[in-house]
Amino acid sequence: MRDKFFFQLDNRLHYGVGWSRGLGDFVKSLGWQHVALLVDEGVAAHSAYYKEIKLLLGAAVGELTEFQLRGNEEPSYDYLDELAGKLRAFAKLDGIVAIGGGSALDTAKALACLRTNPGPALQYRGFDNVKVPPVPSICVPSTAGTGSEVTINAVFTDTEEKRKLGINGRYLNATYAVLDAEWTMSAPASVAISSGMDALVHTLESFMTGNANPLTRALNREAFRLLYTNLPSLVDAPNDKNKRQALLLGSYLAAAGLFNSGSGIAGALSYPIGVHFKVPHGIAGGIFIASVVDFNVARGWHDYAELLDIVEPHPDWTAEQKSKRFAELLHALSAHLDVPKTLERWGITRKNLDHVVSLVVPLQGAFNQNPVPFKAETDARDMLMRHTN
Ligand SMILES: [Fe+2]
Repeated sequence: MRDKFFFQLDNRLHYGVGWSRGLGDFVKSLGWQHVALLVDEGVAAHSAYYKEIKLLLGAAVGELTEFQLRGNEEPSYDYLDELAGKLRAFAKLDGIVAIGGGSALDTAKALACLRTNPGPALQYRGFDNVKVPPVPSICVPSTAGTGSEVTINAVFTDTEEKRKLGINGRYLNATYAVLDAEWTMSAPASVAISSGMDALVHTLESFMTGNANPLTRALNREAFRLLYTNLPSLVDAPNDKNKRQALLLGSYLAAAGLFNSGSGIAGALSYPIGVHFKVPHGIAGGIFIASVVDFNVARGWHDYAELLDIVEPHPDWTAEQKSKRFAELLHALSAHLDVPKTLERWGITRKNLDHVVSLVVPLQGAFNQNPVPFKAETDARDMLMRHTN
Protein backbone atom coordinates (compact mmCIF):
# COMPACT_ATOMS: atom_id res chain seq x y z
CA MET A 1 0.00 0.00 0.00
CA ARG A 2 1.24 3.50 -0.85
CA ASP A 3 2.07 6.00 1.88
CA LYS A 4 2.47 8.77 -0.71
CA PHE A 5 -0.45 9.10 -3.07
CA PHE A 6 -2.71 11.28 -5.19
CA PHE A 7 -6.48 10.98 -4.93
CA GLN A 8 -9.23 12.68 -6.93
CA LEU A 9 -13.00 12.59 -7.08
CA ASP A 10 -14.60 15.17 -9.38
CA ASN A 11 -18.27 14.43 -9.10
CA ARG A 12 -21.37 15.79 -7.42
CA LEU A 13 -23.91 13.20 -6.38
CA HIS A 14 -27.68 13.15 -5.95
CA TYR A 15 -28.75 10.04 -4.11
CA GLY A 16 -32.08 8.46 -3.29
CA VAL A 17 -34.83 6.14 -4.53
CA GLY A 18 -37.09 8.24 -6.79
CA TRP A 19 -34.75 11.26 -6.85
CA SER A 20 -35.01 11.50 -10.66
CA ARG A 21 -38.52 12.95 -10.34
CA GLY A 22 -36.64 16.11 -9.36
CA LEU A 23 -34.33 15.96 -12.38
CA GLY A 24 -36.38 18.46 -14.41
CA ASP A 25 -36.33 21.05 -11.62
CA PHE A 26 -32.63 20.42 -11.05
CA VAL A 27 -31.74 20.93 -14.71
CA LYS A 28 -33.81 24.11 -14.70
CA SER A 29 -31.98 25.33 -11.59
CA LEU A 30 -28.71 24.92 -13.51
CA GLY A 31 -30.08 27.26 -16.18
CA TRP A 32 -29.94 24.63 -18.93
CA GLN A 33 -32.27 25.43 -21.83
CA HIS A 34 -30.88 23.28 -24.65
CA VAL A 35 -30.39 19.72 -23.47
CA ALA A 36 -29.42 16.45 -25.17
CA LEU A 37 -30.97 13.37 -23.58
CA LEU A 38 -28.96 10.22 -24.27
CA VAL A 39 -30.71 7.01 -23.33
CA ASP A 40 -30.14 3.29 -23.80
CA GLU A 41 -32.64 2.11 -26.37
CA GLY A 42 -33.71 -0.70 -24.01
CA VAL A 43 -34.51 1.79 -21.24
CA ALA A 44 -36.40 4.03 -23.69
CA ALA A 45 -38.45 1.08 -24.95
CA HIS A 46 -39.33 -0.65 -21.69
CA SER A 47 -39.12 1.72 -18.75
CA ALA A 48 -42.32 3.45 -17.62
CA TYR A 49 -40.16 5.50 -15.25
CA TYR A 50 -38.24 6.83 -18.25
CA LYS A 51 -41.42 8.03 -19.94
CA GLU A 52 -42.41 9.86 -16.74
CA ILE A 53 -39.02 11.52 -16.24
CA LYS A 54 -38.71 12.49 -19.91
CA LEU A 55 -42.00 14.37 -19.70
CA LEU A 56 -40.87 16.22 -16.56
CA LEU A 57 -37.55 17.04 -18.20
CA GLY A 58 -39.19 18.20 -21.42
CA ALA A 59 -41.45 20.55 -19.48
CA ALA A 60 -38.50 22.06 -17.59
CA VAL A 61 -36.25 23.04 -20.52
CA GLY A 62 -36.72 24.89 -23.80
CA GLU A 63 -35.33 22.23 -26.13
CA LEU A 64 -34.86 18.55 -25.28
CA THR A 65 -33.43 16.31 -28.00
CA GLU A 66 -33.44 12.59 -27.41
CA PHE A 67 -30.79 10.20 -28.74
CA GLN A 68 -31.38 6.50 -28.24
CA LEU A 69 -28.13 4.56 -27.92
CA ARG A 70 -28.06 1.13 -29.43
CA GLY A 71 -27.24 -2.15 -27.71
CA ASN A 72 -25.36 -2.85 -24.52
CA GLU A 73 -22.16 -3.94 -26.22
CA GLU A 74 -19.15 -1.67 -25.71
CA PRO A 75 -19.48 1.10 -28.29
CA SER A 76 -16.90 1.64 -31.02
CA TYR A 77 -15.00 4.78 -31.99
CA ASP A 78 -16.90 4.84 -35.28
CA TYR A 79 -20.20 4.99 -33.42
CA LEU A 80 -18.83 7.76 -31.23
CA ASP A 81 -17.91 9.84 -34.31
CA GLU A 82 -21.36 9.30 -35.81
CA LEU A 83 -23.03 10.64 -32.64
CA ALA A 84 -20.49 13.44 -32.19
CA GLY A 85 -21.42 14.72 -35.65
CA LYS A 86 -25.02 15.06 -34.57
CA LEU A 87 -24.20 16.80 -31.29
CA ARG A 88 -21.77 19.21 -32.96
CA ALA A 89 -24.53 20.25 -35.35
CA PHE A 90 -26.54 21.87 -32.55
CA ALA A 91 -26.35 25.68 -32.46
CA LYS A 92 -26.68 25.59 -28.68
CA LEU A 93 -26.16 22.84 -26.15
CA ASP A 94 -26.11 23.58 -22.42
CA GLY A 95 -25.69 20.06 -21.14
CA ILE A 96 -26.13 16.32 -21.58
CA VAL A 97 -28.34 14.04 -19.49
CA ALA A 98 -27.47 10.36 -19.92
CA ILE A 99 -29.51 7.43 -18.64
CA GLY A 100 -28.35 3.85 -19.14
CA GLY A 101 -25.73 1.20 -18.50
CA GLY A 102 -22.00 1.77 -18.38
CA SER A 103 -21.62 1.90 -22.15
CA ALA A 104 -24.26 4.62 -22.47
CA LEU A 105 -22.64 6.68 -19.73
CA ASP A 106 -19.16 6.22 -21.23
CA THR A 107 -20.56 7.37 -24.57
CA ALA A 108 -22.17 10.42 -22.97
CA LYS A 109 -19.00 11.46 -21.15
CA ALA A 110 -16.96 11.17 -24.34
CA LEU A 111 -19.58 13.05 -26.37
CA ALA A 112 -19.56 15.87 -23.82
CA CYS A 113 -15.84 16.21 -24.64
CA LEU A 114 -16.27 15.79 -28.42
CA ARG A 115 -18.82 18.60 -28.49
CA THR A 116 -16.06 21.04 -27.47
CA ASN A 117 -13.02 19.25 -28.96
CA PRO A 118 -12.79 18.84 -32.76
CA GLY A 119 -11.78 15.88 -34.91
CA PRO A 120 -12.17 12.13 -34.73
CA ALA A 121 -12.71 10.47 -31.35
CA LEU A 122 -9.74 8.14 -31.82
CA GLN A 123 -7.28 11.01 -31.45
CA TYR A 124 -8.36 11.45 -27.80
CA ARG A 125 -7.67 7.83 -26.92
CA GLY A 126 -5.32 7.43 -23.98
CA PHE A 127 -4.89 9.64 -20.94
CA ASP A 128 -5.45 13.41 -20.67
CA ASN A 129 -5.58 13.98 -24.43
CA VAL A 130 -8.78 16.03 -24.17
CA LYS A 131 -7.66 19.65 -23.90
CA VAL A 132 -10.85 21.76 -23.80
CA PRO A 133 -13.38 21.40 -20.94
CA PRO A 134 -16.54 19.50 -21.97
CA VAL A 135 -20.16 20.60 -21.78
CA PRO A 136 -21.56 19.60 -18.38
CA SER A 137 -23.19 16.21 -17.98
CA ILE A 138 -25.52 14.36 -15.63
CA CYS A 139 -25.03 10.58 -15.62
CA VAL A 140 -27.79 8.33 -14.33
CA PRO A 141 -26.88 4.63 -14.21
CA SER A 142 -29.64 2.12 -14.97
CA THR A 143 -27.47 -0.77 -13.78
CA ALA A 144 -25.38 -1.02 -10.61
CA GLY A 145 -21.93 -2.02 -11.75
CA THR A 146 -19.57 -0.08 -13.95
CA GLY A 147 -19.47 3.06 -11.85
CA SER A 148 -18.94 5.11 -15.03
CA GLU A 149 -20.91 7.92 -13.36
CA VAL A 150 -17.97 8.54 -11.00
CA THR A 151 -14.83 7.48 -12.90
CA ILE A 152 -12.62 9.42 -15.31
CA ASN A 153 -12.66 6.56 -17.82
CA ALA A 154 -14.73 5.79 -20.90
CA VAL A 155 -14.10 2.47 -22.68
CA PHE A 156 -14.50 2.01 -26.43
CA THR A 157 -13.65 -0.73 -28.88
CA ASP A 158 -11.24 -0.06 -31.69
CA THR A 159 -12.86 -2.29 -34.31
CA GLU A 160 -9.78 -2.25 -36.57
CA GLU A 161 -7.25 -3.18 -33.91
CA LYS A 162 -9.82 -5.41 -32.16
CA ARG A 163 -9.09 -4.08 -28.70
CA LYS A 164 -10.70 -1.94 -26.07
CA LEU A 165 -8.91 1.25 -25.21
CA GLY A 166 -10.50 4.18 -23.52
CA ILE A 167 -10.59 7.93 -23.51
CA ASN A 168 -9.49 8.74 -19.99
CA GLY A 169 -8.39 11.43 -17.63
CA ARG A 170 -9.22 15.00 -16.76
CA TYR A 171 -12.61 16.02 -18.23
CA LEU A 172 -13.88 12.41 -18.56
CA ASN A 173 -15.83 12.70 -15.31
CA ALA A 174 -19.57 13.29 -15.25
CA THR A 175 -20.32 16.65 -13.66
CA TYR A 176 -23.21 15.13 -11.70
CA ALA A 177 -24.24 11.56 -10.91
CA VAL A 178 -27.70 10.45 -9.88
CA LEU A 179 -28.06 7.18 -7.97
CA ASP A 180 -31.73 6.22 -8.04
CA ALA A 181 -32.69 2.55 -7.75
CA GLU A 182 -35.94 3.10 -9.65
CA TRP A 183 -33.83 2.90 -12.83
CA THR A 184 -32.29 -0.45 -11.95
CA MET A 185 -35.53 -2.28 -11.15
CA SER A 186 -36.35 -3.17 -14.74
CA ALA A 187 -32.94 -4.60 -15.69
CA PRO A 188 -33.08 -8.33 -16.51
CA ALA A 189 -31.60 -10.56 -13.76
CA SER A 190 -28.66 -11.61 -15.98
CA VAL A 191 -27.71 -7.96 -16.60
CA ALA A 192 -28.10 -7.05 -12.92
CA ILE A 193 -25.89 -9.97 -11.86
CA SER A 194 -23.21 -9.28 -14.47
CA SER A 195 -23.16 -5.62 -13.42
CA GLY A 196 -23.07 -6.47 -9.72
CA MET A 197 -20.16 -8.86 -10.22
CA ASP A 198 -18.36 -6.12 -12.15
CA ALA A 199 -18.65 -3.84 -9.11
CA LEU A 200 -17.46 -6.61 -6.77
CA VAL A 201 -14.43 -7.21 -9.02
CA HIS A 202 -13.71 -3.46 -9.00
CA THR A 203 -13.59 -3.19 -5.24
CA LEU A 204 -11.57 -6.39 -4.72
CA GLU A 205 -9.02 -5.53 -7.40
CA SER A 206 -8.68 -2.00 -6.13
CA PHE A 207 -8.13 -3.49 -2.65
CA MET A 208 -5.43 -5.87 -3.88
CA THR A 209 -3.41 -3.63 -6.19
CA GLY A 210 0.01 -2.39 -5.22
CA ASN A 211 -1.22 1.16 -5.85
CA ALA A 212 -3.86 0.96 -3.12
CA ASN A 213 -3.74 3.74 -0.53
CA PRO A 214 -5.53 4.33 2.78
CA LEU A 215 -8.30 6.29 1.08
CA THR A 216 -8.99 3.74 -1.68
CA ARG A 217 -8.91 0.97 0.95
CA ALA A 218 -11.55 2.83 2.98
CA LEU A 219 -13.76 3.02 -0.13
CA ASN A 220 -13.06 -0.65 -0.92
CA ARG A 221 -14.11 -1.84 2.53
CA GLU A 222 -17.46 -0.07 2.48
CA ALA A 223 -18.08 -1.02 -1.16
CA PHE A 224 -17.36 -4.64 -0.32
CA ARG A 225 -19.72 -4.58 2.67
CA LEU A 226 -22.54 -3.11 0.60
CA LEU A 227 -22.01 -5.41 -2.37
CA TYR A 228 -21.44 -8.62 -0.46
CA THR A 229 -24.46 -8.16 1.78
CA ASN A 230 -26.83 -6.95 -0.95
CA LEU A 231 -25.84 -8.95 -4.06
CA PRO A 232 -27.78 -12.06 -2.94
CA SER A 233 -30.95 -9.93 -3.10
CA LEU A 234 -30.71 -10.00 -6.91
CA VAL A 235 -31.79 -13.64 -6.60
CA ASP A 236 -33.62 -13.68 -3.24
CA ALA A 237 -35.48 -10.34 -3.23
CA PRO A 238 -35.30 -8.81 -6.73
CA ASN A 239 -37.98 -6.22 -5.97
CA ASP A 240 -36.31 -4.77 -2.87
CA LYS A 241 -35.56 -1.16 -3.89
CA ASN A 242 -33.53 -0.37 -0.79
CA LYS A 243 -31.15 -3.23 -1.49
CA ARG A 244 -30.87 -2.12 -5.13
CA GLN A 245 -30.09 1.38 -3.89
CA ALA A 246 -27.36 -0.06 -1.63
CA LEU A 247 -25.89 -1.86 -4.66
CA LEU A 248 -25.75 1.44 -6.56
CA LEU A 249 -23.81 3.00 -3.70
CA GLY A 250 -21.52 -0.03 -3.52
CA SER A 251 -20.88 0.23 -7.24
CA TYR A 252 -20.14 3.96 -7.01
CA LEU A 253 -17.69 3.53 -4.11
CA ALA A 254 -16.02 0.54 -5.79
CA ALA A 255 -15.40 2.52 -8.97
CA ALA A 256 -14.18 5.57 -7.02
CA GLY A 257 -11.60 3.29 -5.40
CA LEU A 258 -10.72 1.54 -8.65
CA PHE A 259 -9.88 4.52 -10.79
CA ASN A 260 -7.72 5.93 -8.01
CA SER A 261 -5.68 2.75 -7.53
CA GLY A 262 -5.93 0.57 -10.65
CA SER A 263 -7.26 -2.84 -11.51
CA GLY A 264 -5.79 -6.31 -11.63
CA ILE A 265 -5.88 -9.76 -13.16
CA ALA A 266 -9.62 -10.47 -13.42
CA GLY A 267 -10.43 -7.08 -14.94
CA ALA A 268 -7.52 -7.33 -17.38
CA LEU A 269 -8.50 -10.85 -18.53
CA SER A 270 -12.06 -9.72 -19.17
CA TYR A 271 -11.02 -7.29 -21.95
CA PRO A 272 -9.54 -9.58 -24.65
CA ILE A 273 -12.07 -12.35 -24.04
CA GLY A 274 -14.82 -9.73 -24.18
CA VAL A 275 -13.64 -8.38 -27.55
CA HIS A 276 -12.84 -11.75 -29.14
CA PHE A 277 -15.46 -14.03 -27.57
CA LYS A 278 -18.17 -11.60 -26.41
CA VAL A 279 -18.02 -12.73 -22.77
CA PRO A 280 -19.92 -10.03 -20.80
CA HIS A 281 -17.40 -7.88 -18.91
CA GLY A 282 -18.89 -8.40 -15.44
CA ILE A 283 -19.34 -12.13 -15.85
CA ALA A 284 -15.80 -12.54 -17.18
CA GLY A 285 -14.36 -10.75 -14.14
CA GLY A 286 -16.75 -12.67 -11.91
CA ILE A 287 -15.54 -16.00 -13.29
CA PHE A 288 -11.91 -15.19 -12.46
CA ILE A 289 -12.04 -13.16 -9.27
CA ALA A 290 -12.39 -15.99 -6.75
CA SER A 291 -9.58 -17.89 -8.51
CA VAL A 292 -7.35 -14.82 -8.25
CA VAL A 293 -8.06 -14.72 -4.51
CA ASP A 294 -7.28 -18.46 -4.23
CA PHE A 295 -4.01 -17.86 -6.10
CA ASN A 296 -2.93 -15.04 -3.80
CA VAL A 297 -3.99 -16.74 -0.56
CA ALA A 298 -2.03 -19.86 -1.52
CA ARG A 299 1.06 -17.66 -1.99
CA GLY A 300 0.79 -16.03 1.41
CA TRP A 301 -1.09 -12.80 0.74
CA HIS A 302 -3.59 -12.53 3.57
CA ASP A 303 -4.91 -8.95 3.57
CA TYR A 304 -8.34 -10.42 2.78
CA ALA A 305 -8.67 -10.96 6.54
CA GLU A 306 -9.53 -7.27 6.74
CA LEU A 307 -12.53 -7.82 4.45
CA LEU A 308 -13.71 -10.98 6.19
CA ASP A 309 -13.74 -9.10 9.51
CA ILE A 310 -16.42 -6.82 8.07
CA VAL A 311 -18.92 -9.52 7.10
CA GLU A 312 -18.02 -12.51 9.30
CA PRO A 313 -15.78 -11.76 12.28
CA HIS A 314 -13.64 -14.56 13.77
CA PRO A 315 -11.55 -12.78 16.42
CA ASP A 316 -9.40 -15.82 17.23
CA TRP A 317 -8.47 -16.80 13.69
CA THR A 318 -5.14 -16.09 11.99
CA ALA A 319 -5.02 -13.89 8.89
CA GLU A 320 -4.41 -17.02 6.80
CA GLN A 321 -7.50 -18.79 8.18
CA LYS A 322 -9.58 -15.69 7.59
CA SER A 323 -8.29 -15.30 4.03
CA LYS A 324 -9.12 -18.93 3.20
CA ARG A 325 -12.61 -18.42 4.58
CA PHE A 326 -12.92 -15.23 2.54
CA ALA A 327 -12.16 -17.18 -0.65
CA GLU A 328 -14.86 -19.72 0.32
CA LEU A 329 -17.41 -16.94 0.76
CA LEU A 330 -16.59 -15.58 -2.71
CA HIS A 331 -17.04 -18.98 -4.34
CA ALA A 332 -20.33 -19.42 -2.46
CA LEU A 333 -21.59 -16.00 -3.57
CA SER A 334 -20.76 -16.77 -7.22
CA ALA A 335 -22.60 -20.08 -6.94
CA HIS A 336 -25.60 -18.37 -5.34
CA LEU A 337 -25.75 -15.88 -8.20
CA ASP A 338 -25.28 -18.70 -10.71
CA VAL A 339 -22.13 -17.17 -12.21
CA PRO A 340 -20.80 -19.78 -14.66
CA LYS A 341 -17.62 -21.66 -13.67
CA THR A 342 -16.35 -22.15 -17.21
CA LEU A 343 -16.08 -20.11 -20.40
CA GLU A 344 -17.40 -22.90 -22.58
CA ARG A 345 -20.66 -21.26 -23.59
CA TRP A 346 -18.67 -18.44 -25.20
CA GLY A 347 -16.55 -20.87 -27.20
CA ILE A 348 -13.42 -20.86 -25.02
CA THR A 349 -12.23 -24.43 -24.43
CA ARG A 350 -8.94 -26.24 -23.95
CA LYS A 351 -8.79 -26.73 -27.71
CA ASN A 352 -8.25 -23.01 -28.36
CA LEU A 353 -6.42 -22.27 -25.12
CA ASP A 354 -3.12 -21.44 -26.87
CA HIS A 355 -4.90 -18.76 -28.89
CA VAL A 356 -6.54 -17.31 -25.77
CA VAL A 357 -3.21 -17.32 -23.90
CA SER A 358 -1.63 -15.41 -26.83
CA LEU A 359 -4.34 -12.77 -26.39
CA VAL A 360 -3.62 -12.31 -22.67
CA VAL A 361 0.21 -12.23 -22.90
CA PRO A 362 0.20 -8.46 -23.67
CA LEU A 363 -1.56 -7.93 -20.33
CA GLN A 364 1.54 -8.67 -18.26
CA GLY A 365 1.71 -5.00 -17.20
CA ALA A 366 -1.75 -5.25 -15.63
CA PHE A 367 -0.87 -8.60 -14.04
CA ASN A 368 2.08 -6.90 -12.35
CA GLN A 369 -0.44 -4.96 -10.23
CA ASN A 370 -1.26 -8.20 -8.42
CA PRO A 371 0.25 -8.33 -4.92
CA VAL A 372 2.10 -11.58 -5.72
CA PRO A 373 3.87 -12.33 -9.05
CA PHE A 374 1.56 -13.61 -11.79
CA LYS A 375 3.03 -14.63 -15.14
CA ALA A 376 0.96 -14.47 -18.31
CA GLU A 377 2.56 -17.50 -19.99
CA THR A 378 2.20 -19.87 -17.05
CA ASP A 379 -0.13 -18.58 -14.31
CA ALA A 380 -2.69 -17.08 -16.70
CA ARG A 381 -2.66 -20.35 -18.66
CA ASP A 382 -3.32 -22.29 -15.43
CA MET A 383 -6.12 -19.93 -14.51
CA LEU A 384 -7.75 -20.27 -17.94
CA MET A 385 -7.37 -24.08 -17.59
CA ARG A 386 -9.36 -23.94 -14.35
CA HIS A 387 -12.24 -22.31 -16.21
CA THR A 388 -12.31 -24.40 -19.38
CA ASN A 389 -13.15 -28.01 -20.22
FE1 LIG B 1 -15.28 -3.41 -14.80
